[in-house]
Amino acid sequence: MNWELTENGFNSEKIAHLGNKFLTGNGYMGIRGTLDEFDSRDLVAVNLAGIYDQVGNSWREPLNAPNGFYSYLIVDGNVLKVQDNAPKEHFIKLDYRHGIFKRHTEWTTKRGNIVLESERFVSMDDVHIGVEKYKITADFHADINFLTGIDGDVWDINGPHYDEIIMDEDDCISIVGISHEKKYHVAVSVSEDENFPCEKKIILKKEDKKIIKSLNFVSDINKCYEIHRFMAIYTSKDCENPLDNAKETAINIRNKGYYELRDEHCKCWESIWSNSEVEIEGDDDAMEVLNYSCYHLNSISPRHTDSLSIAARGLSGQTYKGAVFWDTEMFILDFLLMTNPKVARNVMKYRIDTLDGAKEKAKSYGYDGAFYAWESQEGGFDACSDYNVTDVFTKRPMRTYFKDKQIHISAAIVYGIGRYIDLTGDMTILSEGGAETIIECAKFYYDFLLKKVSGGYYELHDVIGPDEYHERVNNNGYTNRMAKYTFEQAVKVIDSIDELNEQYAIKLCKEYNLKQLKEKFEMAERNIYIPQPNENGIIPQFDGYFDLEDVSVNTVRSRLLDPKEYWGGANGVAAHTQVIKQADVVTWLTMFPDDVSDEIKLKNWQYYEPRTEHGSSLSACMYALLACKCGMKEKAYPLFMKSASADLNEGGKEWAGLVYIGGTHPAAEGGAYMVAIKGFAGIYFEDGKIKAKPDLPKAWKKMRFHICYRNKKYKIEIEDNNANIVEI
Ligand code: BGC
Repeated sequence: MNWELTENGFNSEKIAHLGNKFLTGNGYMGIRGTLDEFDSRDLVAVNLAGIYDQVGNSWREPLNAPNGFYSYLIVDGNVLKVQDNAPKEHFIKLDYRHGIFKRHTEWTTKRGNIVLESERFVSMDDVHIGVEKYKITADFHADINFLTGIDGDVWDINGPHYDEIIMDEDDCISIVGISHEKKYHVAVSVSEDENFPCEKKIILKKEDKKIIKSLNFVSDINKCYEIHRFMAIYTSKDCENPLDNAKETAINIRNKGYYELRDEHCKCWESIWSNSEVEIEGDDDAMEVLNYSCYHLNSISPRHTDSLSIAARGLSGQTYKGAVFWDTEMFILDFLLMTNPKVARNVMKYRIDTLDGAKEKAKSYGYDGAFYAWESQEGGFDACSDYNVTDVFTKRPMRTYFKDKQIHISAAIVYGIGRYIDLTGDMTILSEGGAETIIECAKFYYDFLLKKVSGGYYELHDVIGPDEYHERVNNNGYTNRMAKYTFEQAVKVIDSIDELNEQYAIKLCKEYNLKQLKEKFEMAERNIYIPQPNENGIIPQFDGYFDLEDVSVNTVRSRLLDPKEYWGGANGVAAHTQVIKQADVVTWLTMFPDDVSDEIKLKNWQYYEPRTEHGSSLSACMYALLACKCGMKEKAYPLFMKSASADLNEGGKEWAGLVYIGGTHPAAEGGAYMVAIKGFAGIYFEDGKIKAKPDLPKAWKKMRFHICYRNKKYKIEIEDNNANIVEI
């Protein structure tokens, strides 16, 4: 399989897309696939995980560190930057087996040709470091100034975040940015190889927010000059003295040298792939897009800590405020559980550790229990704004209800904990706060329930389901079903209190009247209203859904007055129709396939699919999974490919109203993995065993992969729709 992506030529229109597509990351930081000479205008970002800042009333967003990989060439006095000086030849490559980004650019000048090649990575071995190697070759005696430095003018959506920029130089150069709101210190230091292959003159320049070293030399004809640079990043969240740590690291790693660091980094990637590579014989395209999806998930997995989650746009920048959504539990968690259960624990621990934030949010709306943040940042703070979309016509913020009405988020957390326990067998997470989290989520739904004076059911009113285009609806089937599941889980936890750590169990008994809670939750679980199929076998997505105008997605699209117009909300083109943004009832049936017969599953798939815009990258994988469950692998296949290609192909949705939402799509990538493993390979877990009901796409002759299950690792091979599952 070809583990390399190549993009030939330079096109300024593609800068945003390629920045995502060629991203390299290690869970601590993500570096967009931008060129050395790019600056903040070209969306350069060294995006840091789990560290946020706010300026004024703008949205809080994650911090981008100063860019330590900044460099460009001046040859015979001419600045050579691809944006201003069209190259003769140019390509970039991504080795996504090892997360290595490469560029090759050749310029023709008046006196001859000059080639710049570079190669860089952010280390999987030590997440604080990044290293870059440059090669400069000219076919004439070029008068070269190679300018390398740190650019403190970082790309911000709602910045600038650094009130102060401190520059420092001794054995290495450094910049410390001090953030506006929290006064975080973000330190970046860069050292370079001492063995520069010729006589050179170094001039240090500090200009505006940049600290730059200019290496000046005259090149020999066709001689290749190789330069290595060593970058280290620390923040005041990592240690007390980030600058000292960054400097020390940048100097220490120089002693190891580029090649040794690269070997160590590659070894880590090989070990990651020994769990996450999926081989597909007979369909190279599918194998490549699927492993490319796994590459992105591996690049953003927080391995370096024990309580951190994954943002909806990974580490590709500040879109979606660098916040954590239900995407992690419902779309990404299975990949983590099956390939790296320790990281799965980290992401669930993040939720448990942010329970206080969720309780505060519930309280602020007058509810009991835990209402998790729709867009979660540090401490569970909900970064979602009440005005989350900007109207294209009036340019005014629109009142949206994602934050206050998308209550299904709390159930996703409960689902995540349940799934974690099921696949790892590790109950200790319950005693580390998991039990309380589940109980608090159940308390929230209990408090949210309504019962009509005349009715026998408990209902959930005024919510938003996964399909965000229909706001403030009653009895969204997915939400009600997930709330029912939450009650079930809470009852289970209360029943198994004796299996928890003794001290913790005592604490819970003191804190809660467990007997009373159990009775309440059992009653709620029994009586919550779950929408049933109508006479045609179709489940209404919410009360009154079938009364809405039944038109095609294309008709709705044709009503747009502006391509960036928001489809949902009070006046959106989809709001008064049956056209939905993404899988909703279908997500429910994928999660709980035993709730209805196969015939009903199929009917609902067939009804909802043509009415779905797939306006979210989370949609295709859910339809693909249910298609597999309905025996329609040929329908599942294009949806699987779409999900797995979310970051390969241009043309994904980049705007919600006037708000930029571009970036990478980890949920689609995790979704693609689920379709391959749970859909086509048919893997499921029952009675403590891995089982499989494979139904591979026609072209797939064989499938091979590994999965982790309950502390053991298994090798799985599928051929002729038979699964061979061996413990290794
Ligand atoms: C989707 C949400 C999703 C969010 C972040 C939105 O467009 O509708 O379901 O959680 O993007 O990926």
